[in-house]
Amino acid sequence: MPRIVVAGSLNMDLVMQSPRVPVLGETIPAGPFVTSHGGKGANQAVACSRMGASVAMMGRVGDDAFGSELRESLEREGVDVSAVLTTEGCSTGVASIVVVEGDNGILIAPGANGMLSPRDVRTAAPLFEGASCALFQLEVPVETVLDGLRLAKRAGARTILNPAPFMPLPDEAFALADFFIPNRIELEQFSGISGLAEGASALRSRGASGIVVTVGKEGAWIFGDAAPVLVRAPVVDAVDSTGAGDAFVAAFAVALAEGETLRDAVEMAVCSGALACTRFGAREGLPRRAEVDALAAVVKQKSPSS
Ligand code: RIB
Repeated sequence: MPRIVVAGSLNMDLVMQSPRVPVLGETIPAGPFVTSHGGKGANQAVACSRMGASVAMMGRVGDDAFGSELRESLEREGVDVSAVLTTEGCSTGVASIVVVEGDNGILIAPGANGMLSPRDVRTAAPLFEGASCALFQLEVPVETVLDGLRLAKRAGARTILNPAPFMPLPDEAFALADFFIPNRIELEQFSGISGLAEGASALRSRGASGIVVTVGKEGAWIFGDAAPVLVRAPVVDAVDSTGAGDAFVAAFAVALAEGETLRDAVEMAVCSGALACTRFGAREGLPRRAEVDALAAVVKQKSPSS
């Protein structure tokens, strides 16, 4: 069973479905409303566990009811939470999410996520020893992510940076990540260029090596040393794309850790991301291994040469 470490955020998601996004000063009737366990870090940890990996999470919650609930939910999913710490006198991270016709917009109040320090990650660094992959996102401080990347690399783990949400990064971050997985918008924000190939090439000149760009229901582009490849996502009945990126990154990491090729790992990842869109809620949508394998097999059968 591959071992994966995730260093990142835990959020309580406050999710509302809405006919549209209100303009400033406007109130519109919306709903239904749910609270759901989220945070890109925690979602990726749970998704890796549901894919069959042994997972440890590094993170911080506040000393409030949301914090205990989020830690317990990770434990129930089989994630090692020994490095999920509590910050006294601080609120747990909260995400306010509006879902409009299956797509989402997210506002984050980081709370304790913003207190995850390089020192926390250094203290928990023994978790990186023997890990196949280490996953990072940008809902915790950049200096913590950088330190985590350095430590994970030193321990021999493959490093994956899902740079969401956009935060300015030093070039070192691109070089430290074996795989850099932005979505289309983030690629443009990091590169300042709107074309995918041009944007990826700009990031490669800043030190990035393997770049995989998720492009929603179209699938994902691989930009590496070889010619760019689009891996198409299967068509599904999408109701909520929240967490699809997390499902993608987690399945990609688990497949790589199991020794799959880059192309096969992305094929598994697009299936996982697509399945995540078929259920409402980020955590609720994260698929289990059997579903991903079944969908991947159908996709392979339809296009055996890919
Ligand atoms: O990727 C989806 C996640 O982004 C949500 O769970 C929310 O918490 C935000 O972090």
